[in-house]
Amino acid sequence: MDKRTTNINELETIKQQKIIEELKELYKAEEERKGKKKTYHIVTFGCQMNSRDSEKISGILKQIGYVETDTEEADFVLYNTCTVRENANNKVYGHLGFAKKLKEKNPDMLIALCGCMMQEPEAVENIKKRYRFVDIIFGTHNIFKLAELLQTRLLSNRMVIDLWKDTDMIVEDLPSDRKFSFKAGVNIMYGCNNFCSYCIVPYVRGRERSRSPEDIIAEIKALAADGVVEIMLLGQNVNSYGKNLTNPISFAQLLKEVEKIDGIERIRFMTSHPKDLSQELIDVMKDSTKICRHLHLPLQSGSTRLLKIMNRRYTKESYLDLVERIRTAIPDISLTTDIIVGFPGETEEDFKETMDVVSKAGYESAFTFLYSKRTGTPAAAMENQVEETVAKERFDRLLKLVQECSAKAAGREEHTIQKVLVEEVNTQDSTLLTGRLSNNLLVHFKGEESLIGTIAEVYLEESKGFYYMGRLQEQ
Ligand code: 5AD
Ligand code: SF4
Repeated sequence: MDKRTTNINELETIKQQKIIEELKELYKAEEERKGKKKTYHIVTFGCQMNSRDSEKISGILKQIGYVETDTEEADFVLYNTCTVRENANNKVYGHLGFAKKLKEKNPDMLIALCGCMMQEPEAVENIKKRYRFVDIIFGTHNIFKLAELLQTRLLSNRMVIDLWKDTDMIVEDLPSDRKFSFKAGVNIMYGCNNFCSYCIVPYVRGRERSRSPEDIIAEIKALAADGVVEIMLLGQNVNSYGKNLTNPISFAQLLKEVEKIDGIERIRFMTSHPKDLSQELIDVMKDSTKICRHLHLPLQSGSTRLLKIMNRRYTKESYLDLVERIRTAIPDISLTTDIIVGFPGETEEDFKETMDVVSKAGYESAFTFLYSKRTGTPAAAMENQVEETVAKERFDRLLKLVQECSAKAAGREEHTIQKVLVEEVNTQDSTLLTGRLSNNLLVHFKGEESLIGTIAEVYLEESKGFYYMGRLQEQ
């Protein structure tokens, strides 16, 4: 990013801070009049990127003077939407029906829509026509403007819509409200340039933009000083991090810098694209004591023919070779993946190739999706769409195989002592704590609440398939 862009970003931050201060005054006066603070609630759909964006939204609203509440019966409700598959869109419309009723009871309630689905003109047209009660619509590129949009809405009494097609701005210095005190997501890049033919993400999140390593390191140092021990580096395709910077740097080099930060004990990242996963990264992971033993490596399909049409730019063989190199270098790694079933033109032969890769890669777990047609993507225009019954039948077969693989992999650490980040009191049984292993599996064990946020040693007594039951070791 050049100097000029940096200055524009700084000016924007100052402008938004000023608006936050103005709104703060306004809300304080209203709070004094009414004797209560205004509440907000965010419903977040989709991936970790969206969760991180919701923390930014939350940070701005808290500075203005809102307090968070856990129901949609709030003064300000925001839906941070996802559009990666059709059912994600349907869920949003379901919530809007409910919100409409709430607004009828409380006409002062404000409703905002943001996130990926808002970057689709058809969805926004539909909302403008059928959901007139929505107050604010913004997208993925201008979250930092929330205070300004809210102010405009309060002054104008009309639906405020602000959507940017793309941006080269990275405005980061605004408040952010972390969900956990001890772990945090850090955006290292935005957007995606890959244009996999089924995927809408490049259209709704824009072109790839990497943050500077200096900014990222400074943010992580500040998090560490604030008590964060685990960070998750976030990007649509972290393996191509840094390629478009004025001073290019690889993702592996960035990881090495992050590793040096005192206080940070665990490093995770999401998501890797197999085509860009370098040997350098495997070597850095192998030698690292902080990078977690988990890699999410989306396969999408095991058929080289389909991978080409999907524009994935790797083959069945190169993927399996990569898996083997990773497993050889880091034997205790846990591999997970994403697979799409029913991509246009998928034949039984193609599907069998996918099943073959699943058996050979031995995933610890896999997310399987039925192909969903996304308007505007090349795959949506393909004529040979797979019949739903055929796709569903394949999906069930795949799921069965995935479950068998997970069952085989499960229990690998049984009867060993592992380091665990203690995350919370167990939601089902309050006498237990829940922690996470380096490989991302959960373990439940007896312990004091004061351990939350620390790394403890836990003996894994029994594997329950997707989680362990454990016993805390003497510290
Ligand atoms: N249909 C089904 N699944 C999809 N994904 C992305 N686009 C689609 C689509 N059109 C899946 C991919 C990706 C994950 C986040 O969502 O597997 O890795
Ligand atoms: Fe979508 Fe492919 Fe980019 Fe992932 S890498 S966000 S699947 S286009």
